[in-house]
Amino acid sequence: MRKLLIITPTYNEENNIEKLIQQIFSLQNQINHWEINLLVVDSHSQDNTTQQVKKWQKKYPRLYLLETEKKGLGKAYVEGYQWAFSKVNPYLIIQMDADLSHQPKYILEFIKKIESGADLVIGSRYIPGGSIPKNWAWYRKLFSYLGNLIIRLGFANFRITDWTSGYRAIRAWVIKEIVSETKKYSGYVFQIATIDQALKRQTRASEIPIQFLDREFGTSKIKFGEYILNIFSYLITQSSFIKFVIVGSIGFLIDFSISFLFFEKMHFKLWLATVISAEIAIVSNFLINNFWSFAHKKLNHQSISFIFHFLKFNFISLGALIIQAAGLEILGTLFGRDWWLIYKILIIGLIVIPYSFIFYNKIIWKKN
Ligand code: GDD
Ligand code: MN
Repeated sequence: MRKLLIITPTYNEENNIEKLIQQIFSLQNQINHWEINLLVVDSHSQDNTTQQVKKWQKKYPRLYLLETEKKGLGKAYVEGYQWAFSKVNPYLIIQMDADLSHQPKYILEFIKKIESGADLVIGSRYIPGGSIPKNWAWYRKLFSYLGNLIIRLGFANFRITDWTSGYRAIRAWVIKEIVSETKKYSGYVFQIATIDQALKRQTRASEIPIQFLDREFGTSKIKFGEYILNIFSYLITQSSFIKFVIVGSIGFLIDFSISFLFFEKMHFKLWLATVISAEIAIVSNFLINNFWSFAHKKLNHQSISFIFHFLKFNFISLGALIIQAAGLEILGTLFGRDWWLIYKILIIGLIVIPYSFIFYNKIIWKKN
């Protein structure tokens, strides 16, 4: 039998935890090749949450309680993992809220996906079959939807639709690999960091639809202002895509100023000034991308393949140049050349940026 550990963090969930415990253990007879273990990580609830857990421990020997300081949702999970690896050593971990927003019946679906080969399965509210509560206030719906959209754009990843969902199944080896990174994020942004760090390793991720129910008892502990700030600071420091856009902008400034210097001040021929400045920008883009934007897939600069990758990078850059020139020519011929600056912005934004980002990922900085 493989060991499954479900971890649920609690803070004042006395009216939810009993039901949750019973619903979870009642699933045991539907999955006979998995042994269900449940860990409640409580941060000194002011109500009767821990008393309830202790009461049900008499009936369920695989129900555990870990009491921790109140330092946020992420912190509670990380302490839960550390406890789990020394005490239970599970093969699979499922994370879920304790307020019954996450319906235990989906545990069976998570397990199916894991058995068919996934390493990380996210319960998504944003794929067909999934939903958020109809009675949520408009700002909460908007926040949840916009939050996910910004994260998907920021990571330039549209395969994962629900980055903030707290309901997911993760193979234990993945958690062991990423926890040294994710433990830096103690609040709700921990959920996003977990997916991002897992995707940066070799993990097969997939989603199942979940209907997220509104909690009946108790209140949400989320602080939206703090959460939004944490999301932005995570994206800016961790997203390859955002860093890649910043590097591209720096490259543009370098290209522009060196051209100016060589042509206007040093009176080089225009074509020569252009070639020199473009190549310097290419070298700078290649190096900063390697050591910063794609640092998690960094090329070894002491190996000969570094040179080959640099040559390929030159070809991709040449491709970008040709796309721009051809696009400008076509649009200029069709609609007149007065609007060339607009055409240029459109071509760079809609074609050159996606083209370069995709080719960098597929050809230069492949997953190791
Ligand atoms: N131990 C512990 N310590 N548990 C906590 C803490 C804490 O500091 N803060 C919250 N929890 C527990 C709650 O008791 C609940 O079981 C679960 O974590 C989720 O907290 P809620 O307060 O119910 O969060 P929510 O419903 O507003 O947030 C939902 O959306 C978030 C972002 O979209 C949840 O699905 C989160 O998991 C999700 O990250
Ligand atoms: Mn909740």
